[in-house]
Amino acid sequence: MKIAPSILSADFAELKTEIKKVDNAPYLHIDIMDGHFVDNLTFGPNVVKALRNHSQQIFDCHLMVTEPEKYLEAFAKAGADIIGVHVEATPHIHRALSQIKGLGVKAEVVINPGTPVAAIKEVLPLVDQVLVMTVDPGFGGQAFLESTLGKIKELAQLRLQTELKFDIEVDGGINTQTIKQVAKAGADVAVAGSFVFNSEDPAKQVALLKEATQN
Ligand code: DX5
Ligand code: ZN
Repeated sequence: MKIAPSILSADFAELKTEIKKVDNAPYLHIDIMDGHFVDNLTFGPNVVKALRNHSQQIFDCHLMVTEPEKYLEAFAKAGADIIGVHVEATPHIHRALSQIKGLGVKAEVVINPGTPVAAIKEVLPLVDQVLVMTVDPGFGGQAFLESTLGKIKELAQLRLQTELKFDIEVDGGINTQTIKQVAKAGADVAVAGSFVFNSEDPAKQVALLKEATQN
C-alpha cells in the first residue's frame, strides 16, 4: 500500500516544513476545494506551484470543484502529476479526463460515497487511477464509511477481469484499522490527513500506516 498524506490537515502557515515531514511517503495529496462543489475553500494552482519547488513527491491533486475543465491546464502547469476530477462535478467527464491526458498528466476519476461504480465504467479505459471517496468530501477528520468497501472490491474485480490497469485510491477516515480493510478490499493508495498531521511525528504516522498493511 502506498501512502498519500493529505496536507488539508497540515499547518497552513508552515506548509514547506510540513511537507518535508512526510517525504517518506511517495505521494502528496493536495485537496483543491472551491466553496461550491464542497462547502470549504483551500488551495489554487499558485500554492501547488510554490510547493513544487520543495518536493520530489508525486503531486496528487484532488479537485473538488465544479467546472473542473477550467482549471486543468493551470494545475498541470503548476506541477501536478495526477489530477483527479469528480464524476459528479461535470456532465462531460470523458472530455475532462481526455484533457488531463492531453496535458501529459495522469488522469483520475473520483466517486463520492453515494455514487456507484457503474457511473464511471465507461471512462475506466481512460484513467490511471480511480479515487473512491470513503467519506463525503469537504473536510478532514470524518469517520470512514464501511459501505464504500463493496465498491473498492468491485473495482478490483473489474480490473482483474479486464485489461485495465488503473490504481485504486481511497480517501477519508484512514487510520491503522481502516487501512487494513481497504487493503483487503483491493486498494493500492491510501490518503490520510488527520491521522498523519494531527501528531507530533507525521513521518512515524506514515510508517505506521504502511506497517499496518504489511502483516
Ligand atoms: C476530504 C479530503 C481528504 C481529507 C482526508 O474531502 O478529500 O483528502 O484530507 O482527511 P482525513 O484523512 O482526516 O479523513
Ligand atoms: Zn482528498
